[in-house]
Amino acid sequence: MTLTFRACMVRHTPDGFSIGIEPLTIDDLPPGDILIQVAYAAINYKDALACSPTGRVAQASPLVPGLELTGTIVESSDPRFPVGSAVLAGDFGRTMGIARHGGFSEYARVPSEWIFPLPSTLGFKGACLLSAMMGAALALRQLEEHGLTPERGPVLVTGATGGVGSMAVRLLARRGYTVAASTGKPSEQGLLQYLGASEILSREEVSAPSQRPLESERWAGSIDTVGGSTLAYLMRTTKKGGAIASIGVAGGAVFQATVYPLILRGIQVLGIDCPSCPQDLRWQLWQELLAIPDLLPSEAALTSEVALEDIPTVTAAMLNGQTKGRTLVRLAQHSE
Ligand SMILES: NC(=O)c1ccc[n+]([C@@H]2O[C@H](COP(=O)([O-])OP(=O)(O)OC[C@H]3O[C@@H](n4cnc5c(N)ncnc54)[C@H](OP(=O)(O)O)[C@@H]3O)[C@@H](O)[C@H]2O)c1
Repeated sequence: MTLTFRACMVRHTPDGFSIGIEPLTIDDLPPGDILIQVAYAAINYKDALACSPTGRVAQASPLVPGLELTGTIVESSDPRFPVGSAVLAGDFGRTMGIARHGGFSEYARVPSEWIFPLPSTLGFKGACLLSAMMGAALALRQLEEHGLTPERGPVLVTGATGGVGSMAVRLLARRGYTVAASTGKPSEQGLLQYLGASEILSREEVSAPSQRPLESERWAGSIDTVGGSTLAYLMRTTKKGGAIASIGVAGGAVFQATVYPLILRGIQVLGIDCPSCPQDLRWQLWQELLAIPDLLPSEAALTSEVALEDIPTVTAAMLNGQTKGRTLVRLAQHSE
């Protein structure tokens, strides 16, 4: 008997755009040596774009979106990853859920290079949070390679209640940094303080336009998930010799700035491109994160669960900046 299962399918055709639940069989899945029964798939901002008619990130049609997933291996031809193992899978947004079927599906097939086995201490939801932290960890590594240390001064995280932003706040705080957080959600101040932020700024303050090329020096570094006018603010307010890790575009792509912060304060704007991160560096980041004691925040505070049917609603809310932490699509019943 052929196994039939459900997946969220996005189609771009000459007749228009559609998104909905469709039945698939194992033969519909892309190649790979590992078949996974998916427990949870995290919804990233790039997934929200893939689920939008105007998002322009999907490189295939039809496409099951879903950049990353957690679940249990049900078929494997790689002895390193036996059947029954709990794993995280994804390629950091390069092809999975973009150019080939991804995690918004009850079953997914992937190459074994994309597999991260979960230690017994890490559940499926925790793994989704740790995965969001990998982007933050890559940004922090680049900032530190450019001289950032806790002694240099406070670090600002923008879009701080988002998936990457919230995990960046937590990681920086656990690594001994003084962390400031900017948010468009004043009601989430308590959450940001719980994650480790000691100062909260409003979205208005960090995105207000200004004609001044330089303002008071405040930040030794920053992790910017927002872009647009917020990136311009960061350029004006970064301390001499400081650095900005530009990782996201949730607030817009276009910004207006001058060269003065670059040539009068020597600041660095570092582009963070997770999909280009080599696999061995991903492994290293993963191992480093696993080794930090008490790193992950409360799952209840930072994750919410939805069903496959909810994906269009949740991804639209995400593009409007209305979600917080990581929203997880629940695919299979499991005990955790
Ligand atoms: N470069 C890379 O390789 C890479 C890797 C991962 C993610 N990213 C990017 O990083 C960004 C965040 O990803 P994510 O998955 O964490 O998304 P997310 O969970 O939706 O978080 C984005 C956060 O940005 C803030 N925001 C939303 N709309 C905004 C607006 N119009 N103006 C200002 N702030 C706004 C909100 O936080 P507040 O309400 O707290 O302000 C929101 O929660 C996305 O642009 C994503 O594409 C890039």
